[in-house]
Amino acid sequence: MSLLDLKGVSLSFAGSKVLQDVDFNVPAGAVVSLIGPNGAGKTSLFNCITGFYKPQSGSIKVDGVETMRMKPHQVTRLGIARTFQNVRLFREMSVLENVMSGMHCRTRAGVVDAILRLPAQRREEAAIRDFSIECLRFVGIEDGWHRDAGTLPYGWQRRVEIARALATQPKLLLLDEPAAGLTAGEKQELIALIGRIRDERGVAVLLIEHDTGLVMRISERISVLDHGVMIAEGTVKEIQTNPRVIEAYLGVEEGEAELAG
Ligand SMILES: Nc1ncnc2c1ncn2[C@@H]1O[C@H](COP(=O)(O)OP(=O)(O)OP(=O)(O)O)[C@@H](O)[C@H]1O
Ligand SMILES: [Mg+2]
Repeated sequence: MSLLDLKGVSLSFAGSKVLQDVDFNVPAGAVVSLIGPNGAGKTSLFNCITGFYKPQSGSIKVDGVETMRMKPHQVTRLGIARTFQNVRLFREMSVLENVMSGMHCRTRAGVVDAILRLPAQRREEAAIRDFSIECLRFVGIEDGWHRDAGTLPYGWQRRVEIARALATQPKLLLLDEPAAGLTAGEKQELIALIGRIRDERGVAVLLIEHDTGLVMRISERISVLDHGVMIAEGTVKEIQTNPRVIEAYLGVEEGEAELAG
């Protein structure tokens, strides 16, 4: 059984088809990439997986549990976390507070405890703080924990988002174009970080990314979406040599260059 399993997922807005009969899966602990041209429906697929969009038909299962009718916070609790194509942080809040906000889905202390600040709630807050700092350390930016998130360099903001997602203790992390806007050096660090997320935390990663060089380096499997249709799925080699993929996305020249490289 896959960690994430989509079958026949179709989504449309006002009659325009965004996803058509999509089958897709992510095994536990794997790094899988989703590629395809602009407007193919990649982010929409993330929004379906996380419960923000409600597909008209199909099935989405996390560890065998149907999530199609669940609310986003219920899907988070099942172990799905994400980052956004455009960084979404609370800019006026500190880096640490941003990461701590990711853990709300896991907290137990009730409203009464919170108002009276009973010992259980204080203990929980300390635990949240410790774990958030650990997540910041994991992504390599614990030194910036007290700064307002909006004042951080762009590459750091992206890492805060990853730390916030990790703070929910996911089984699967969805990253929507995490390399966009990063320098070459930052991209190298991102590749290493994704490897550590899988190897040290045992978290599967599903990556949407336009940097095909990066995708080819870290993915165990790749799926290709084009106009809402999943046109290919396979290993890096299979995708690089798939004529339909080269035509729809990689481009003949780029495909050949990837093959040569
Ligand atoms: N809430 C919405 N309402 C109407 N149309 C939408 C909505 N969300 C997405 N779409 C449409 O779905 C299509 C796919 O968009 P989506 O953002 O999923 O593409 P994408 O593959 O992520 O593209 P990009 O690589 O540019 O980020 C687009 O035509 C978009 O306009
Ligand atoms: Mg997108």
